[in-house]
Amino acid sequence: MCGIVAYIGQKEAYPIVLKGLKRLEYRGYDSAGVALINNGLQVYKKKGKVAELEDHVSSKDMRSHIAIGHTRWATHGEPSDRNSHPHVSGNGKLAMIHNGIIENYAQLKQELLSKGHTFKSDTDTEVLIHFIEEIQQNNNCSLEEALRIALKRVVGAYVIVIVDEDHPDTLIAARKGSPLVIGVGKGEHFLASDASPIVEYTKEVVYVNDYEIAIIKADELILKNISNEIQTPYIQKLDIELAAIEKGGYDHFMLKEIFEQPQTIFDSLRGRLDAKKGILTIGGIREHAEMLSKAKRIIIVACGTSWHAGLVAEYMIEELCRIPVEVEYASEFRYRNPVVGPGDVIIAVSQSGETADTLVAIESAKQKGAIILGVCNVVGSSIARLSDAGVYTHAGPEIGVASTKAFTAQLAVLCLVGLKVAMLKGSITEQRFQHLLDELENIPEKVAATLKLNDRIKEIAAKYKDARDFLYLGRGYNFPVALEGALKLKEISYIHAEGYPAAEMKHGPIALVDENLPVVFVATRDSYYEKVVSNIQEIKARKGKVIAVITEGDQVIPGMADDIIVVPEADELVAPIISVIPMQLLAYHIGVLKGFDVDKPRNLAKSVTVE
Ligand code: F6R
Repeated sequence: MCGIVAYIGQKEAYPIVLKGLKRLEYRGYDSAGVALINNGLQVYKKKGKVAELEDHVSSKDMRSHIAIGHTRWATHGEPSDRNSHPHVSGNGKLAMIHNGIIENYAQLKQELLSKGHTFKSDTDTEVLIHFIEEIQQNNNCSLEEALRIALKRVVGAYVIVIVDEDHPDTLIAARKGSPLVIGVGKGEHFLASDASPIVEYTKEVVYVNDYEIAIIKADELILKNISNEIQTPYIQKLDIELAAIEKGGYDHFMLKEIFEQPQTIFDSLRGRLDAKKGILTIGGIREHAEMLSKAKRIIIVACGTSWHAGLVAEYMIEELCRIPVEVEYASEFRYRNPVVGPGDVIIAVSQSGETADTLVAIESAKQKGAIILGVCNVVGSSIARLSDAGVYTHAGPEIGVASTKAFTAQLAVLCLVGLKVAMLKGSITEQRFQHLLDELENIPEKVAATLKLNDRIKEIAAKYKDARDFLYLGRGYNFPVALEGALKLKEISYIHAEGYPAAEMKHGPIALVDENLPVVFVATRDSYYEKVVSNIQEIKARKGKVIAVITEGDQVIPGMADDIIVVPEADELVAPIISVIPMQLLAYHIGVLKGFDVDKPRNLAKSVTVE
C-alpha cells in the first residue's frame, strides 16, 4: 500500500530509486513521483504507472546523489498528478513521501489554513509536511526536532521520508505502523517499504521500529526514539535472492508464483515434517504447543485470501483437535468489541504480515490477554513481531498482487499446526496422523501434476472468458476453495463472481442460473461428494454451464459437466492445496485473455497497510 524508496550515497540516485519503484509497484500503482536535489529541490510526479513518470522525466537533468520516490495507492484524494507524492512544504524546501494514513489530518489542516497555509493537493501527506514546516519555523529548530514534535501530535500510521534542500547530505525518516527497511551499503544507504529494491545492492538491512526516527547520511545511520534517545541499529542479513523477485522468464509474476508452488509448499514443510520417521517439529510454536492444545477455543483472524486459508484451517483444526474454531474478518473482529481474553488463542494469518486490519485486531486481542500465533510469510513483518509465537510460511516473496503461492503455503503450515496440536491433545489416532503426514509429503508432487493441466485450463478460459458472471461452488473443505476461486477471478479479470457453499446455492443464488452462467464446481472426491453431485444436477436442470474440478477416476461427473479438470486424488483434509491450483490458473488465463495487467489489477495493491 504505497511504495517508498530513497537513496543517499556516491552513485546517481535517480536510476536506483526508479528501479526500486518498479520493484515496489505491486504496492500501489495509480501514480508515482520522485524528488531530488540538483540546483535546488526538484520534484516530478505523474498519474499512472512508474513507466509514465519515467517518460515524463526523460528529458530532465536527474543527476543527484540523494533522491526519494513513491508509488501510490490512493487514500486521500483521487489519483492525479497533484495528489501524487512527494509533497512539498509551503517554502518549497522540504519534500516528503508517505505510506499510511494521518487520521487527524482534517484537524491539522484546519489549524494550518487558519495560519495562512494553502494546499495544492487533497492529501493528508501535504498537511503533514506543512505541519512540520510550521513547527520548524515557530520553534526555529532543526527538521529532526520539528519532526519529533509533529509526530507526537499525529494520529495514524506512517512511514515518511523527507529531503531538505538546505541539507542535501541527509535523509530523515520515521516509522509507525507501516514497514521501513534501510539497506546499509559501503558509503551509501537505501530505504524502502520492503527489501526488494535493496537486495541487489546489499544484504545488510535494518528494520526500523515503530516510533523511531532515522537520520541518514551516505556513511552514517542514526536511529533515535521519539524521546530523542539514540537506539542501536540492529543489522540483519537478508535471506532473499534477487532471482526470487524477478520474473525468471514467465510473462507475469502471478504465473511464476503459481508454478513455484511445488517448491514453495515443499519449503513450507521442509525441516518440519519427516513422514518416514513420523516426526513433526514446529520450532516457532514449541514453547506454546502445550498451551495451544489446552486452548478453550481458537480464533483465526485474517483478510482476503488469508481469510480463506483460515476457513480451511477451521475445518482442519476442528476435525483434528476437537477445539472450537471461529474465523473472523480482521476488520470486523476488531471493531465489534469481541469477547476475548485469557485462554483464547488467536491465529493471525497474513502473507505480508503488514495488513493493518489484521495487525490492529491482534493488538487489541493481545491487550485483552489472548495468546497470538502468527502465520506470516514476510520474515520480520509487523504481525510476526507482535505475535507471541509464530510459524513462517516460507513461500518466498509474493509480488503478483493476487495471492497464490502464499495461500497454499498457509494451508500446509496450518495443517502442520493442527496435526501437532492434535497429537499433543491425543485427539488423533496414530494411523491417521501418519497417513496425513504421508499425504502432506506427497502434496508438492501432486501440485506439480496439477500444473500440467495448464493448457487444458487455458482452453476452458478461452471458452468462458466473455461470461458476465461466474458462480463458484464447493462443500466442506472445498467451500473455501470456491470462495478463493471467485475472489481470484474478480480481482484480475473484473468479472463478477460469487463463491458459495454448494448446498446454500439453492437458497438464493440459483435464481441467477441460466444457459449463460458458468458454474465452477470444486467437486473432488470427499465425504461430501454424493451431495455435490446432486448440486451439479440442480444446476444442469436449469441449463447452467458446469466446469468441474474432479478427482482422477471419477466416472460420474464427466457425464454431467460441460468441462472437467481432473486432479490427483488426495485426502480431503489436504485436497484444497491441490484443488485451488485450477482456480488460480483459470483466473489467470481469463485475465490475460481479456488483456488485463494481472500482476497489477486495477484499484488493488498488495499489503494493505491502511484500515
Ligand atoms: C487476494 C489478496 C488479498 C490478501 C489480503 C490479505 O488475492 O491478495 O485479499 O489476501 O489483502 O493480505 P495479507 O495476507 O498480506 O494479510
